[in-house]
Parts: sequence; C-alpha cells; structure tokens
Amino acid sequence: MSTPATDALVGEGEAVPREASVTATAGLLGPDEEQWVEVATVKELVRHKKKYVEAGGEQIALFYTGEQVYALYDVCMHKQRSLSKGVIMGGQVICPGHQWMFDVETGWVDEEERCQPTYAVRVEDGAVYVNPVRRILRTDGD
Ligand code: FES
Repeated sequence: MSTPATDALVGEGEAVPREASVTATAGLLGPDEEQWVEVATVKELVRHKKKYVEAGGEQIALFYTGEQVYALYDVCMHKQRSLSKGVIMGGQVICPGHQWMFDVETGWVDEEERCQPTYAVRVEDGAVYVNPVRRILRTDGD
C-alpha cells in the first residue's frame, strides 16, 4: 500500500523529485510576517487578470483566477520569456514563449515534471501582498 507523498515547498535550487503532483500543496512553508510587500490592488487584478511586479529584487508575475491571486517567478524556466505576458486559463499559466502550461498555484509543468518558482500571496483590505522568497514544490516521497 502506498502512502501519500509528503509535499513541501523548499528554497530555490533544491531538487524537485519527479513524483511531485500538481495537486500537492500541503506543507507549504509559511513566510515570515515581515517579508510581505504590497505590490498591487485586488481591483487592478480583477480588471487585468495579471500584472508584472518587482519586490525584494524578484521579478514576479501575479495572476487572478477569478477566485484567488497567485504569484510565480516571472522568468520562464524554459527560455526566460516573461510569464506575465502569457495568459491565465483554467488554473494554468500559458507561457508566451513555447506554451508550456504552469499550474498557477504550484508552478508545476506536467510534461516537464518541473516547477516554476512561486511566491506566497496574501490579500488584505483590497491590497495584494507577496513574500518575495522563491518557493519550489517538492515531494519528499521516493
Ligand atoms: S520560454 Fe516559456 S515555454 Fe519556452
């Protein structure tokens, strides 16, 4: 009998095992409270669905799915195109470069079995905050 994978987001540069799942979001590491940076308003994301921002030296693409705001590292892991110039559709961000499809929540790409880094997002009083510390989904299972 198999056991569920223990998933977590880890710092940049750590390996992302091939078994990681797009639905594996349990175990997200919470960012430090002080690191939140206000980057946008909910109103502008509702209107434009996406926005490029910079915070803490990071290039970040914000996306609004109709329910929630998500943040991914803007520079595509494939050939460095800007994800904020892509489109958000059905919970996936489609890169304008070669149409890789990233899960907006985890950064996971099915065909490549890799992840684009993401950032924690918080919405409060109509403002959108990100924690500019890159997270990469990983699975601790074998
Ligand atoms: S640059 Fe993003 S898919 Fe190629």
